[in-house]
Amino acid sequence: MNPLQDTYGRKITYLRISVTDLCNLRCVYCMPEKGVEKRCHTDMMSVEEIIRAVEASADCGITKVRITGGEPLVRKGIVDICRGVSSIPGIEEVCLTTNGVLLPKYAQQLKDAGVSRLNISLDTLDPEKYAMLTRVGKLDDALAGLEAAEKAGFTGTKINAVLIGGINSGEIRELVGITKDKEIDFRFIELMPIGECSSWDKERFIPGQTVLDAVPELVEDGMNGVSRMYRVPGWKGRVGLIDPISHRFCDQCNRIRITADGKVKPCLHSAAEFDLRGLDREGMVDVLRSAIESKPGRHMLEERSSESIRNMNEIGG
Ligand code: GTP
Ligand code: 5AD
Ligand code: SF4
Repeated sequence: MNPLQDTYGRKITYLRISVTDLCNLRCVYCMPEKGVEKRCHTDMMSVEEIIRAVEASADCGITKVRITGGEPLVRKGIVDICRGVSSIPGIEEVCLTTNGVLLPKYAQQLKDAGVSRLNISLDTLDPEKYAMLTRVGKLDDALAGLEAAEKAGFTGTKINAVLIGGINSGEIRELVGITKDKEIDFRFIELMPIGECSSWDKERFIPGQTVLDAVPELVEDGMNGVSRMYRVPGWKGRVGLIDPISHRFCDQCNRIRITADGKVKPCLHSAAEFDLRGLDREGMVDVLRSAIESKPGRHMLEERSSESIRNMNEIGG
């Protein structure tokens, strides 16, 4: 199946599908302190609907799927979802983005279910800061998750850290230090003004360039998806900068998103949503086509906050 193209000529091949808006952490930039109200399960897509939505996406030329949340590993049936999605003809890569805490329980099952690759969120290596940032998390649990991924045989694992002025900006050299002996991509993401953090002070939003200033040894190493890559010469891993605000990558965007309640989002930061609920595979294909046709050219984050009507935990990044 040839990929669909949007009106700007971008080929859409990558689907990010959120399987729950719930999470076992409460990161201060993402979730309200009291968490989010558990929605009635009939509001959310069932395992079968999720698989049907991915089948319809494959009919539209999607080849890569990333399963997100909230935290995808708190979703009941997550292993069945991964197994189902990875067996769909045309889907070549099934990835999952997780905070890692539940990987000691799930890493092997995910590997056996056909998951190709994991991205793990880890914003700090300081136990106290981790507890403060995640409100309820323990650093050791996330580190155990990273180890469990390795033990289960996952390769190409990436770590994502959201760069936050005054919180982990003083720790950049330590974080980059992970890439010395580990064959891992450690990526810094510019904090995006969406949901919980959209009203935060300006000082919290710092450019990816801060990383290059803190570690002048870094040399350029091309692009990987939305991430500009660097490495410290002689070190095993790489460092990535995902800078949606200072270096817009919208003109190369190849992705659409589906939320856990079955809405297609043509862009992370636009308010537009298209409903997939109650549709058969053909009906879903029609909606996906319309969503791709309406994909906006770019976001306006450098001028104003996200126009998304949802928090990050409902979209999954
Ligand atoms: P790979 O498949 O490993 O390249 O992963 P990925 O970067 O596509 O996925 P991941 O979930 O690790 O994304 C990291 C973060 O980058 C997301 O959570 C978002 O915060 C940000 N990001 C990813 N895609 C986009 C995008 O299209 N637009 C914007 N603004 N940010 C994005
Ligand atoms: N800006 C940038 N990244 C964010 N994430 C969550 N909220 C934001 C935000 N406001 C990241 C998480 C995780 C990924 C799924 O999205 O830390 O790495
Ligand atoms: Fe959970 Fe990820 Fe949001 Fe943290 S950033 S609260 S781990 S969904």
